[in-house]
Amino acid sequence: MNTIIINGADDEAFLDAAKALREGNLVAFPTETVYGLGANALSTDAVKKIYEAKGRPSDNPLIVHISEVSELNKLVMEIPEAARLLIKAFWPGPLTMVFRKSNLVPDIITAGLETVAVRMPDSPIAQRLIKEAGVPVAAPSANLSGRPSPTTYKHVMDDLYGRIDYIIDGGPCQVGVESTVLDVTTDIPIILRPGGITLEMLESVLGKVNTDSVLEIKGNIKPRSPGMKYRHYSPKAEMVLISGKADAVAEKINKLISESRKQGLRVGVLTSIENANKYDADVIVKAGSVKHAEQIAAGLYDSLRTFDEEKVDIIYSETFEEKGIGRAIMNRLKKASSGKIIELKGDN
Ligand code: TXA
Ligand code: MG
Repeated sequence: MNTIIINGADDEAFLDAAKALREGNLVAFPTETVYGLGANALSTDAVKKIYEAKGRPSDNPLIVHISEVSELNKLVMEIPEAARLLIKAFWPGPLTMVFRKSNLVPDIITAGLETVAVRMPDSPIAQRLIKEAGVPVAAPSANLSGRPSPTTYKHVMDDLYGRIDYIIDGGPCQVGVESTVLDVTTDIPIILRPGGITLEMLESVLGKVNTDSVLEIKGNIKPRSPGMKYRHYSPKAEMVLISGKADAVAEKINKLISESRKQGLRVGVLTSIENANKYDADVIVKAGSVKHAEQIAAGLYDSLRTFDEEKVDIIYSETFEEKGIGRAIMNRLKKASSGKIIELKGDN
């Protein structure tokens, strides 16, 4: 397939892409979180192409993107009061809410669930694309399934060039991690995926918010969000997280580096700017300053992809404080490492 790359500021090409999207083709576009791979959400055939291009398991449902709140009414059975408050506070923005779905939403979007996830992105290019297309837009992150999400058009090219119809270049994404996914079908909303709108921000509007995203049915633990069970956001190399006090972490990582090197491995380290000069690895990627977690989030997926480009065999990573956007950062790092984490207790 011939993939057409267009500049988000090129009006004529932009309208072509919007038309192609409406007519059932795949268009990758920037949002404030990550790049999305868009298809006409009302067309089963169009949405099928998303799963094929990404190699995405068909039991993992998609988010429907809208450009006006009025479009929400058609997609859902009801808008709970909590959702109304959150729409006022955070839409457009990096918050996805899960509602009971209406009959208009094709089963292929929801992977057969009775609920649908909806988000109104804040990025002007995303908003305009949805408006010009004139239909709600189903869009997962525009990466091959399992890979780190794309935060530049180049990342999209690396994964999907030749597999989709258009890529709109709108520069790097500002938030850098995906939207928060919040289930608003329960009395107390539940965070299914931490993201751009933090727990603290949600609590400031709602008071109580649950973060326990597994549902226990008669002793059977089942994730509420099907996407949560897959290995995700992963660089090609194995990744191990090391948590504890900064000096102890540095000492442990340096030990691990020398052991790995003895085995002939090429070693990468993901570190804060503050600790970067403590390591002697083949590839050192600075995630950002611990004082600015937003910076770390914005560059996180680019950092993970850098290790792929540098062809490292193993990555050792520091951990970051789990508050605010830090919860989303740590959620992604834990998935990227398949939960491999060494926790250093006390001072050892
Ligand atoms: O920031 C974002 O949300 C980006 C941009 C492009 O908008 N999109 C994104 O989509 O991250 P995706 O497909 O990579 O992740 C969607 C997540 C998955 O974890 C999926 O399981 C969950 O949302 N999800 C979708 N529909 C759901 C539903 N009805 N119930 C529960 N979880 C749902
Ligand atoms: Mg994704």
